[in-house]
Amino acid sequence: MKIISVVGARPNFMKIAPIVRAIKKHGGIHHILVHTGQHYDYEMSGSFFKELGIPHPDINLEIGSASHARQAGLIMMEFEKVLLKEKPDVVIVVGDVNSTMACSLVATKLGIAVAHVEAGLRSFDRNMPEEINRLVTDSVADILFTTSLDANIHLRHEGILPQRIFFVGNVMIDTLLNSLTKARKTKILERMGLQKETYTLVTLHRPSNVDDKNDLSRIMQALGEIQKSIKVIFPVHPRTKNNIQKYYSASQLKKWKNLQLIEPLGYFDFLNLMSYAKVVLTDSGGIQEETTVLGIPCLTLRNNTERPVTITQGTNILVGTDKKRIIRESQKILQGKIKNGQRPKYWDGNASQRIVQILVKLYQQKQLRRV
Ligand code: UD1
Repeated sequence: MKIISVVGARPNFMKIAPIVRAIKKHGGIHHILVHTGQHYDYEMSGSFFKELGIPHPDINLEIGSASHARQAGLIMMEFEKVLLKEKPDVVIVVGDVNSTMACSLVATKLGIAVAHVEAGLRSFDRNMPEEINRLVTDSVADILFTTSLDANIHLRHEGILPQRIFFVGNVMIDTLLNSLTKARKTKILERMGLQKETYTLVTLHRPSNVDDKNDLSRIMQALGEIQKSIKVIFPVHPRTKNNIQKYYSASQLKKWKNLQLIEPLGYFDFLNLMSYAKVVLTDSGGIQEETTVLGIPCLTLRNNTERPVTITQGTNILVGTDKKRIIRESQKILQGKIKNGQRPKYWDGNASQRIVQILVKLYQQKQLRRV
């Protein structure tokens, strides 16, 4: 069997790492890793390959940043050439970034089976570019691997046949569980002069939170209030950095003495910081899941989530983007009012193994492709 796996942007790397390992462990599979180059900075891409032991991509399309249409178009043109040459039996795509959607479309149009890992998540918010990517990818995918049973329900409502849907668990958690011991050994706390559980960790990168001046200011002001009570550590995504630089002067930022803006961190350092944080404030999808497994309180600065299991079972609370609410909910946690959670089913470190077993079985039964 010949498999092509696709990665493009930061959250894809932690998802593909355990799949690549499981493919290798299984043996007898010809595997090709394609990086679209959607993310290209060392901090956003290269460092993850190194830390997570992902092999160097066999092919890098080097597409880089562009408008969504241009980025997706360029990825499609280049990925088509790869598929025509390599003719794999199946293309594995993960998550919900532009690369996921673009590569799924190319593969399905060439009659090649598409396996989508992390299928069926829905925020029901079509203003999110990722929601469009999820809908398009799932509508063409042949094999849909889900992380939670709500995703199965969404896919069934959308008319996907049950024999195409496989609840396998969460590959991002495979990576977390495999990395935690190592991550806890990094010296990031010492380097930053931090003590365990004495800081808030923040990440922000959703266009709806960071692109518009008013939206970003509301959140920054909330952080300005929170840093009066606890140190706030904020590794800044490039999109967010561009906007902070546009809207804030260095002297304005300096006024918030306990708010530390730093460069994006590598996987191990970030996981270390997250595992010892008092609370995490984020608009990321993956971090809602990771904090749930770590048992760390998470406040999600969005009005919806495609990962409701992190609320119903985990430590996540959806707080929206209202300044007062963000401050109020943070204070509650600082006062010790903490929500206890549990780890969702199959978030056990073995999701990738399940995926590879299912793919091999479908291949042997000549059922990879939906007909
Ligand atoms: C993308 C994904 C999002 C994911 C996020 C994680 C889509 C639609 N969005 O959003 O789902 O959660 O990645 O980071 O696919 N830039 C750099 N260096 C890089 C990459 C980007 O400086 O290596 C800057 C560029 O100015 C670029 C901007 O960041 O224009 C945004 O990058 P882009 O890949 O378009 O989207 P993200 O916001 O990163």
